[in-house]
Amino acid sequence: MPLEASMPSLEHTPPSRALGLGDATFDRIAGLVRTECGIELSQSKSNLIVSRLGRRVKTLNLITFDAYVDHIETPSGRDELRRMISLLTTNVTKFFREPHHFAALRADILPKLIAKARSGASVRIWSAGCSSGEEPLSIGMETLKLCPQASDLDLRILGTDLDPVSLQTARRASYDASSISNLTMQDQGQFFEPADDGKNLRAISELRDLITYAELNLIGEWPMERPFDVIFCRNVVIYFDNPTQATLWPRFANALHRKGSLFIGHSERLGGPGVSSFEPSGITQYRRI
Ligand SMILES: C[S@@+](CC[C@H](N)C(=O)[O-])C[C@H]1O[C@@H](n2cnc3c(N)ncnc32)[C@H](O)[C@@H]1O
Repeated sequence: MPLEASMPSLEHTPPSRALGLGDATFDRIAGLVRTECGIELSQSKSNLIVSRLGRRVKTLNLITFDAYVDHIETPSGRDELRRMISLLTTNVTKFFREPHHFAALRADILPKLIAKARSGASVRIWSAGCSSGEEPLSIGMETLKLCPQASDLDLRILGTDLDPVSLQTARRASYDASSISNLTMQDQGQFFEPADDGKNLRAISELRDLITYAELNLIGEWPMERPFDVIFCRNVVIYFDNPTQATLWPRFANALHRKGSLFIGHSERLGGPGVSSFEPSGITQYRRI
């Protein structure tokens, strides 16, 4: 056999081995991600890790993923840990994703909440895991359609996420044509205006002003003191393991007013001790008992 045929070549080395992502290194990264934000990375994600983190490893002039994890585990590696989590989170979202939830808001929930706010009470809606802002903006558009003066009332939407990069986009509220394309022409015209860059469309200030954004890790402490009327936590816990998911449902129940609504993603299910605090009220929609 020619010598080169017996040598491992980079060309034929799976990408996860090329920079040194062996099983032990994968386990170190997966362990850090699990502890930090609850996200469960399966072995099938090793190519994703290589493609998303490989550039960071090279930019930092490190030779292997192990050296990268060593760096993250030093006290000065805290910022890099946040950057790593940000690179590994799935931030896919879109306006009016799972439209039946917005139909329920429009038909049933918001009219009552707007009446409540008009009576002088405060109304709070939380988009937990809001990514780049499309979800809270969709809630805001439905609110303004029913109540154009909503910003004069004590009615506010809170958008939180772990990922500071997504939150930056959410705060800017400026989106390219493809992100806006699933909005009706009417919604585009009513709620968006040309952004300063001359290319994107930006949410109008009346809509932006309804929403406050904050960085929040759902598996950490929640500093909010007042209960919410509605919580959207959709397509977030699907990335957590079952025990972590189970710890969140009772916390969401405690964070809701009695009869407050919880919306979860289409492939998520309530489980564990929090289930008894909720009754189904629609498709992946629950009411706090
Ligand atoms: C797929 S997006 C879902 C966005 C939106 N809720 C939707 O359904 O379109 C998931 C979001 O959850 C966030 N996330 C993941 N783990 C989190 C955690 N532990 N705490 C807060 N946010 C988290 C990610 O940063 C990401 O922006």
